[in-house]
Amino acid sequence: MTGHVFAVASGKGGVGKTTTAVNAAAAMAESGRSVVLVDYDLGMANLGAVLTVEPAAATLHDVLAGDAETLDAVGSAPGDLDVMVGGTDIEDFGRADPSKLRDVAADLREAYDVVVVDTGGGLSHDTTVPLGLADDVLLVSTPQGAALENTAKTLALAERVGGEVAGLVLTRVSGSVDTEDSVADLDVPLLGSIPEDGGVADSEEAGEPLVVFAEESPAAQSYRELGYELLGESPPLSFQNDDEEASAAAGAALAEVADEPGTRGSPSLLSRVTGGLLGSNGKD
Ligand SMILES: Nc1ncnc2c1ncn2[C@@H]1O[C@H](COP(=O)(O)OP(=O)(O)OP(=O)(O)O)[C@@H](O)[C@H]1O
Ligand SMILES: [Mg+2]
Repeated sequence: MTGHVFAVASGKGGVGKTTTAVNAAAAMAESGRSVVLVDYDLGMANLGAVLTVEPAAATLHDVLAGDAETLDAVGSAPGDLDVMVGGTDIEDFGRADPSKLRDVAADLREAYDVVVVDTGGGLSHDTTVPLGLADDVLLVSTPQGAALENTAKTLALAERVGGEVAGLVLTRVSGSVDTEDSVADLDVPLLGSIPEDGGVADSEEAGEPLVVFAEESPAAQSYRELGYELLGESPPLSFQNDDEEASAAAGAALAEVADEPGTRGSPSLLSRVTGGLLGSNGKD
């Protein structure tokens, strides 16, 4: 079986794409899949700012410039993640040919079960390339109106370049937000609702995915549900049992969300919608 490519995209910057890419990837790695996370924010590489990356011999920019083989640019990070990050020199940016990402993705598909591509914000060429080649685009937005409006534009763009949009992940959701209402105007499934969680900043400081750093924190639990749902599975029972406590700790508002049909409280939202993006079997 060849690997499944997810691209994480948003209309507005700073809404939680990188956090989502890192933690959905780490949750899928936790399930035993081989996972590689690609930092495709070519102008402003930022995975390295939130993860302690053990660098490889080459960078993604080297590969996109035709100066290195794809797998030579795969480093590693906590959470059993392999990672590809860009170079940080200004010249690197000029050398990289975004259209080569297609070849990079093909190489990674051969070597991994799951490829997660984190993209930059906005609607540049850099962003549209991964949207078009991913098996599934995960849109990320905060529940704020302006962010959701930009999400609608990214959705339209993804569809124009032939991208398959799996749905929306709402991030930094707090108290009073009605998540169903937030997504009502966007004709896509709500894949997950991630609570505002101070642990996110702490995990970035520690250079680890939140699902590793504080594995039972509210946002980690929500990211775990998302990751497993993308695989068409349920999180391990040990986490499911703890989930209720975590939700309770996240506050009454989250519990309300969980009670509503069709939101994160249902055991396998995406499985119901799509039968699971990866099917239910693992590595074999
Ligand atoms: N669930 C959350 N709870 C609290 N803070 C969060 C949460 N998710 C993300 N953040 C914070 O929001 C900020 C932006 O997150 P992130 O870097 O993931 O966004 P992004 O969409 O990748 O941004 P950019 O467009 O700049 O790449 C970070 O400071 C992060 O710590
Ligand atoms: Mg980012």
